[in-house]
Amino acid sequence: MSYQDLYQRAERDPEGFWREQAEQLPWRQPPRQILSQDEEGHYRWFAGGQLNISELALDRHVESGHGDQTAIIYDSPVTETQSTLSFRELRDRVAQFAGGLRDLGVDKGDRVVIYMPMIPEAVIAMLACARLGAIHSVVFGGFQPHELAVRIDDAKPKVLLTASCGIEFTKVIPYKPLVDEAIRRSAEPPPHTVVLQRPQCAAEMDHERDLDWQKVANGAAPADPVPVDATHPLYILYTSGTTGKPKGVVRDTGGYAVALNFSMKYVYNLDPGEVFWTASDVGWVVGHSYIVYGPLIYGCTSVVFEGKPVKTPDAGAFWRVISEHQVKVFFTAPTAFRAVKKEDPEAKLLANYDISCLRAIYQAGERLDPPTYDWLKRITGLPVIDHWWQTETGWPIASNPMGVEPQPEKSGSATFPVPGYRVEVLNPEGQPVATGTQGNLAIKLPLPPGCLPTLWQDPARFKSAYLERFPGYYDTSDGGFIDEDGYIFVMGRMDDVINVAGHRLSTGEMEELIGGHSAVAECAVVGLRDEMKGETPMGFVVLKDGAEIDHATLEQDLVDIVRSEIGAFACLRQVAIVQKLPKTRSGKILRKSIRQLSVEKDVPVPSTIDDPTSLEEIRGALDKAGIRHP
Ligand code: COA
Ligand code: AMP
Repeated sequence: MSYQDLYQRAERDPEGFWREQAEQLPWRQPPRQILSQDEEGHYRWFAGGQLNISELALDRHVESGHGDQTAIIYDSPVTETQSTLSFRELRDRVAQFAGGLRDLGVDKGDRVVIYMPMIPEAVIAMLACARLGAIHSVVFGGFQPHELAVRIDDAKPKVLLTASCGIEFTKVIPYKPLVDEAIRRSAEPPPHTVVLQRPQCAAEMDHERDLDWQKVANGAAPADPVPVDATHPLYILYTSGTTGKPKGVVRDTGGYAVALNFSMKYVYNLDPGEVFWTASDVGWVVGHSYIVYGPLIYGCTSVVFEGKPVKTPDAGAFWRVISEHQVKVFFTAPTAFRAVKKEDPEAKLLANYDISCLRAIYQAGERLDPPTYDWLKRITGLPVIDHWWQTETGWPIASNPMGVEPQPEKSGSATFPVPGYRVEVLNPEGQPVATGTQGNLAIKLPLPPGCLPTLWQDPARFKSAYLERFPGYYDTSDGGFIDEDGYIFVMGRMDDVINVAGHRLSTGEMEELIGGHSAVAECAVVGLRDEMKGETPMGFVVLKDGAEIDHATLEQDLVDIVRSEIGAFACLRQVAIVQKLPKTRSGKILRKSIRQLSVEKDVPVPSTIDDPTSLEEIRGALDKAGIRHP
């Protein structure tokens, strides 16, 4: 079947199309309805269907005779260990840990926060929650206590699961003090914390609250999978919005399972039994979908990599893992390959490894910039697939349809919409723009299965953030255009969200933190282009009258605040002091003009500006910071 045929079938008859996809999976009870609307008018997929996603990902492979196949390859250059778990072993460990959680009172619908490094126990923890119908919320290990506390207070978990440490290159990062601090800061801390002691660092335990992971697991009777409704939440994943409060993206169970299962062939062109490696982190959506649920549901082997593209031990790490584990499809963020390219521009280390097993390289998390695309093509000669998605969608919106009819690649484009996604480019008034014209990328409702049905405990924000601006559409907040051949080009966020080394961050949140400094009257944080990380934030602050602080001290204070409240990966490194921020006459900060000034020589002065000299001051500040690229 051609791409066009498939796409048009999904467009003409979404219910028929997704019914067929749902039939690819065994349900405890098939759905009563394929597409329906809930009491608030929001679309729901597969209502009435019953399933358990841990059963789909584990038990059914064991029962169909694939129990000895490898489910997970754990490759950890930072601890110099490697191990594997077969589907049977993983099922048994998940069932037993689920039994332990059940003994702690975790039940269907309860929340469990998971704050763990890239180790198999993180995967076991997620699947154990899913086995009980509990809702997990994984928090990226790079987040600091403030961020963890915000998520705890929103999700109100019954249990928090963690490990004694993570390892960044050669640096051991004790997690337990961070967890303890988050619990101190949280208004409703969970009664129990379960801690996996790693040999690299022993966590100090609080005997009333903390429980040892092994004891919780070992003493328990294995738990059977609990069937849940297709619309039951599988997880909450918090992501940056435009304010300091992250958005709790909810993922349902049935739609997600069907969408991921479909994508494994359609997008990634994999067959069950093959090895898929997503070098990301379980703390991000990419990790949820393509380290854990997608590969395991589909019966692939997934690589869990606790390392970095470089310095663990060198820029040949990707090539080593691919060749050693016979990876067929590899997926990572462009920033990771930019790091490799910086250290090994001629890819000399690639010559040490046979990567003939590899069929394609996928990229997402940020736009795949043409120089990185060209370099990857040149050194590997393989298909290099840029595909576009968001935490909210849970799986790709646009991709080259590699499993159906591969299309010619176009550098800078994520190719075509995936069946089920009707992508349009709209002007600010919500009207479609002409071919090739940039605008807001919006997706016509209903969204396909797998995409967010709502935000956790905040349906009003779900509506205002995504559905109100363009009635009848989901607003992606990304800008871009569609060319005359139908290729989608995603050019960047239209809101105050930035993307630092593939990590999504809110400049609004950084502004709130910086604004809390005693010397700061007001501030703007803007994402500026960065050759390696894509974007990095820079702060522009106006001091309070009479504030006595020198620039270096203030800059260090603000860098420290962002590192200790959000995390080091936010990478705020530079702060400029200005007399006035460029604003419109109605008081809106002209962040776009600041961004433009960092990359263009002649930036038009907006007609709405209240004081043109403020832009001149920004120009000077950028020059002084050495980051203006005229
Ligand atoms: N736990 C604790 N700290 C973390 C962390 C984690 N999980 N991840 C990052 N950090 C810290 C780093 O230690 C570093 O701290 P430092 O400033 O004290 O040195 C800081 O955050 C910045 O880290 P990072 O942005 O990762 O930069 P880097 O220079 O250390 O590494 C890359 C660069 C390209 C190797 C790295 O950014 C990377 O692998 N990116 C891929 C991102 C990705 O997979 N995104 C998912 C979307 S698909
Ligand atoms: P996250 O929710 O963390 O996955 O980040 C989603 C955002 O990353 C999107 O809104 C885009 O801005 C950006 N993004 C992800 N993939 C791509 C891509 N292939 N091309 C361009 N931008 C992307």
